Amino acid sequence: MKKLLPLALLGAALAAQAQQAPKPEQLIKWRQSAYQVLAWNSGRIKANVDGSYNKDEVIKASAAIAAIANSGLGSLFPPGTETGKGWRDTTVKATLFTDAAGVGAAATAFNKEANELARVAQNGDAATVKAQFGALQKTCKSCHDDYRSN
Ligand code: HEC
Repeated sequence: MKKLLPLALLGAALAAQAQQAPKPEQLIKWRQSAYQVLAWNSGRIKANVDGSYNKDEVIKASAAIAAIANSGLGSLFPPGTETGKGWRDTTVKATLFTDAAGVGAAATAFNKEANELARVAQNGDAATVKAQFGALQKTCKSCHDDYRSN
């Protein structure tokens, strides 16, 4: 029994360490998943502003986008995740890890437009939502142009 105890402690210490520092593969999976959820909800909003408008659907989808925008996605891009495989090979560009000011500006613009979309979704005016959705999509594209390879 006495000999087993240190091993058990080591196991607990390793588990704690694993919790503090997720592996690159896990971080890349999380960020790819977060972006896929953004794509899902963007598609829902697009279907509503292009087709028949359902206020509740747009409120739900824009709240999901704002929640992800406000969740601190930047923490999923620590050094050491410039390359690697999550669900698939990461498509991040190396510049994201060096251009802190540019990335900060891109993230701030995205957050601002996502929160504004969630706000205007509440009034249910399709034309206002469509315009704001366009503003949000520009921030997706602009960040992808600069920091994503395809
Ligand atoms: C601040 C920068 C930034 C913003 C804003 C941004 N993205 Fe991305 N996006 C990225 C990066 C970087 C990747 C590559 C992630 C990876 O593969 O590690 C990515 C990947 C993706 C992917 C592919 C995920 C996969 O399965 O590999 C989709 C889809 C996507 N983004 C959609 C969106 C949508 C929709 C928006 C806006 C609502 C958006 N993104 C806003 C930076 C951004």
